[in-house]
Parts: sequence; C-alpha cells; structure tokens
Amino acid sequence: MHILAFANQKGGCGKTTSSVNLAGALAARGSRTLLVDLDPQAHATMALSCAGEHGTSLADVLLSGAAIERAIRSAPGGIDLLPGTDALTEFEEVSARRMHPESCLGAALRRVERAYDFVILDCPPRVDGILCANALAACDTVILVVESGAFALQGALKAQRMIEAAGVDRDRSFDIRVLATMFDRRLRIARDLLIGTQARFGDQMFDAVIHTSVRLREAAAYGVPVQSLDPKTRAARDFDNLASEVIAHAARKLESPDSSNVPAPVPST
Ligand SMILES: Nc1ncnc2c1ncn2[C@@H]1O[C@H](COP(=O)(O)OP(=O)(O)OP(=O)(O)O)[C@@H](O)[C@H]1O
Ligand SMILES: [Mg+2]
Repeated sequence: MHILAFANQKGGCGKTTSSVNLAGALAARGSRTLLVDLDPQAHATMALSCAGEHGTSLADVLLSGAAIERAIRSAPGGIDLLPGTDALTEFEEVSARRMHPESCLGAALRRVERAYDFVILDCPPRVDGILCANALAACDTVILVVESGAFALQGALKAQRMIEAAGVDRDRSFDIRVLATMFDRRLRIARDLLIGTQARFGDQMFDAVIHTSVRLREAAAYGVPVQSLDPKTRAARDFDNLASEVIAHAARKLESPDSSNVPAPVPST
C-alpha cells in the first residue's frame, strides 16, 4: 500500500480536485484505491456525492477510535471513500489534550493495508494543523500542488519548507513530489510560471501537468470523477498520465524504500 498526501498551505490551489481525480484514474486502471477526506469542509466527500450520509466517518475514527472498515464506503468511479465531515474540527480542538494525536490516522490505515494499493489523503489548507500532521505522519509521498497563478511558486516554497520541517521529526521519511495544476497554455504567465516551477523543483516535478478544464468543475458538480463523466476528455488523460507516473514512482519506492528527499532525522547523542 502506497500512501500519498495532497498538501499545500495555500487554499483553492486544486488539492481536492487532484485527489479525487487521481483516485478515479488509479481506480479506472484497476488499482484498489482509498480516498481519505481530511478536510472539515468535506469537499472531496461532496465531489463524490457522499456528503450528508449519516454513518461512521473519519471524525469517528480519529475521535473515538471507531473501526476504519465501518467508515469506508463505495463511491462513484470504483473509489473507496473514508468521508470527511465538519466534525473533524472537533478533532482539531481535542487533539491538544491527547498523547500523539498525529498518529491516529496512520494507526487506522494499518488495519486496511492489505486491502488497498493506493491511499490518497486530501488535506485541508493548513500544513501546520493536526489533520495535516496526521497525513504527514502516515504518508509515503507528499504531493505539493502548485497552481498556475500569481505567488503560487512563493507559496509552494513556503509549504515545502514547512512540510520538510514536519518530516524531520518522523521515524519514517516521505518524499515530496510537485504537481502543476490549473495550467492554461494560452497564457504567457502560466507558461512562464511552469518553467520557473520546473527550474526550482527539477526531478521532483511530475511530467504530467493538469490543465484548466471545465470538465473537472462539471465532474465535481455531478459528484463523479472525470473518468466516469468523460474518459476521453483531456482532463481524464491528464490524470491518467499522472496515475502512470504515481504507479511507477510507488514501484521504485518499494524497490528502494530509503529514496526520500526529506532529510533523515539526526540521531540525538
Ligand atoms: N484543473 C482545474 N481546472 C478547472 N478548475 C479547477 C481545476 N482544479 C481546481 N479547479 C477549481 O478550483 C476550485 C478550487 O479547487 P479545489 O477545491 O480542488 O482546491 P483545494 O486546494 O482543494 O481548495 P481548499 O484549500 O479550499 O481545500 C474549485 O472550484 C475547482 O473546481
Ligand atoms: Mg480542498
């Protein structure tokens, strides 16, 4: 099982859209895929038309140790979903009074590690909060999402520093990959920004780029991944390209698990 967390300190940069549609692309290729909605806004849950369903959710797993298997449900596109709700805010509030609140998600996911090939974590727009700390403690790879807009590169560099700092305290290291999204090749600013992002992040960047697409907004509105709405559209191909890189990356990591780009913790003397 390979765990990927979509993160950025910046709101509205495409984390949820990328999480849902990468999960859809992996599921469409036959990978057993679980999507975990760590955001109290529950946008990933809404984007898969599972909001408002009463039942066990991620908040119950984190707050009261409910069995993760009870909270997982089948969502459109062959994705399994661990839904988020606004009750996740409560976990943020009570975590200050708990021992190791950042390890709850990882412990729960270990119960299902034989059931999935990929777990995708959709983080809220706060890298320094306890929900994102759970994602960083559980994941093998962080995908830093960089949209093609003003100040995006500065925001991504700040998020990268915060994520790396969080990684230094961990026993298991993750690596950081970068995904360019909301790319419109007709705009010179978008092309220049992509070149700048590639120059800054080099090999850490995925070759796949997610273009701006109305179909992605429509798919979210219909509550399905874009692969289910229109598998031939460019957005579906973008996410299929990303899925093949993610599969290859996970296979490489399995062969050499120490190939992280986050510095290993320095042992205390
Ligand atoms: N490639 C894209 N093309 C067109 N619209 C997009 C694309 N990616 C995201 N959007 C739109 O941009 C808005 C923000 O996207 P999204 O919700 O995925 O961002 P986010 O980073 O998860 O936001 P938040 O920080 O609030 O969680 C949404 O309305 C979404 O439909
Ligand atoms: Mg989101």
